[in-house]
Amino acid sequence: MTPPMVSTHENSATPAVQVVDLHKSYGAVEVLKGVSLSAHTGDVVSLIGASGSGKSTLLRCLNLLEIPHSGQIHITGEELKLTKDRKGNPVPADPRQVDRIRTRLGMVFQQFNLWPHMTVLENIIEVPIHVLKKPRAEAIAMAEVLLEKVGMAEKRHVHPAFLSGGQQQRVAIARALATQPAVMLFDEPTSALDPELVGEVLKVIRDLALSGCTMLLVTHEMAFAREVSSQVVFLHQGKIEEAGSPEQVFSSPRSERCRQFVGAMDRQN
Ligand SMILES: Nc1ncnc2c1ncn2[C@@H]1O[C@H](COP(=O)(O)OP(=O)(O)O)[C@@H](O)[C@H]1O
Ligand SMILES: [Mg+2]
Repeated sequence: MTPPMVSTHENSATPAVQVVDLHKSYGAVEVLKGVSLSAHTGDVVSLIGASGSGKSTLLRCLNLLEIPHSGQIHITGEELKLTKDRKGNPVPADPRQVDRIRTRLGMVFQQFNLWPHMTVLENIIEVPIHVLKKPRAEAIAMAEVLLEKVGMAEKRHVHPAFLSGGQQQRVAIARALATQPAVMLFDEPTSALDPELVGEVLKVIRDLALSGCTMLLVTHEMAFAREVSSQVVFLHQGKIEEAGSPEQVFSSPRSERCRQFVGAMDRQN
């Protein structure tokens, strides 16, 4: 059986992200067992599923924090070239291509991972200046706009330790946006937050979605996924078990496992 493909568009435009039959193992354990999906510009694809189903591994393969064993990854039409090292492990064929592809992806993790010794502003301009070689004034000007967007302009000269988790995550989102990525990848961006801080981060992500930002979002916030997604993908044990519109996946899933998962999440919330 061919794995289900995910796309909201029937047109031939190049997808921002296309994954074909992706496999990834850790030792003898295969954690991605042939995953295929695509996201076109402006799509919001939510990935849901139980802990251990492979959601993080999938996102980490996309920005090459993990290297898949087989399958294809295309980012804005460019196919990642893979080869094998002497032990037979998959490795990127061209390190410069990895750098190039990574600049097209903005990643936001559960743990905000801000650089603690830098102020908010310094966190945001670091990569634009030192990796993308942007003039400092230009990098600062863009950072100011992004900080405004995430509601953190007043904290620009503060160090992360003095910010709440919600504030840190909003800065992390601004930092990821500062490279002007084609696609934003969110891995449970609100899971580490106290409940009262979740809303302010979801608001920022919702605004981004409404502004047409292309994103892949791993989340346990089912109501939010239902509201913002163009597509919802339910992963089960390394495979796509169900994929479709939010309406389909949440209200009339074909898969019994998906129905159970969504039902259990509903009862939690
Ligand atoms: N670095 C690793 N080494 C070995 N096993 C891993 C590693 N990362 C993840 N796994 C395993 O891969 C499976 C999928 O993990 P993950 O992608 O983190 O799932 P999810 O994000 O859906 O909770 C789990 O069984 C996990 O234990
Ligand atoms: Mg995870």
